Amino acid sequence: MRIIQAASREEAVETVASLILERILRHPSSVIGLATGRTMEPVYARLCEDAVAAKASLAQTFFFMLDEYVGLPDGHAASFKHYIRTHFLRPLSIPESQIAFPPAPEQDGPERYEALLKESHGVDLQLLGIGQNGHIGFNEPGSDKNSRTRIVRLTPETISANRSQFTDIIPEKALSMGIGTIREAKGLLLLATGKSKADAIKYLLNHHDDPACPASFLKDHPHFTLVLDPDAASRINLKI
Ligand code: GLP
Repeated sequence: MRIIQAASREEAVETVASLILERILRHPSSVIGLATGRTMEPVYARLCEDAVAAKASLAQTFFFMLDEYVGLPDGHAASFKHYIRTHFLRPLSIPESQIAFPPAPEQDGPERYEALLKESHGVDLQLLGIGQNGHIGFNEPGSDKNSRTRIVRLTPETISANRSQFTDIIPEKALSMGIGTIREAKGLLLLATGKSKADAIKYLLNHHDDPACPASFLKDHPHFTLVLDPDAASRINLKI
């Protein structure tokens, strides 16, 4: 695991955006896994800005969403589909033929998503955030290291952490790539910012393969980069 401790939140965001853009510039036909959440909003803003400045062509790049709520109407304002359209696809005029969204559960969503991932020869670089309880995607504590894409029930902590995004329906389930699925990506890039993530990061660094912290299942991945801002790193003591 490579840990990058940034000097500020801006620097952490800039680091993640430039690692993604570098990958796309070096290998334009990359497959990139996209995460959502408040942490990622400035990353997409920066990535869009940098891609325009670099005159980067993303026309050959393909994207996969990491997860999606179950039970929201398609494109609902709180859905991850809406999020990624707003923060990433529209600003860069990326057509939706270049992204895979998890199919609805009633259309064999998990199995079809796994098949799509296989067809595209997997993800080259998977962007990840982390929940306050150490969840990855929507793989909540108790998830299996080898879990595949599936429908998961959200914990009360996750529902309450994300509650402010909902005004009407509050989803209790989601479709998420599994930990085993995520681990198959060739590279993993996890960003944690803010004090609310400090405990999860401390726990992550002190535990290996611990079901109480799903992110700990990623630590033995050969290409796992963890980027932290000073607040997220405030409870750890790393010599740099
Ligand atoms: C959600 C998403 C995760 C994300 C996490 C943290 O549960 N499924 O992919 O990492 O929230 O979100 P935030 O960045 O808003 O703290």
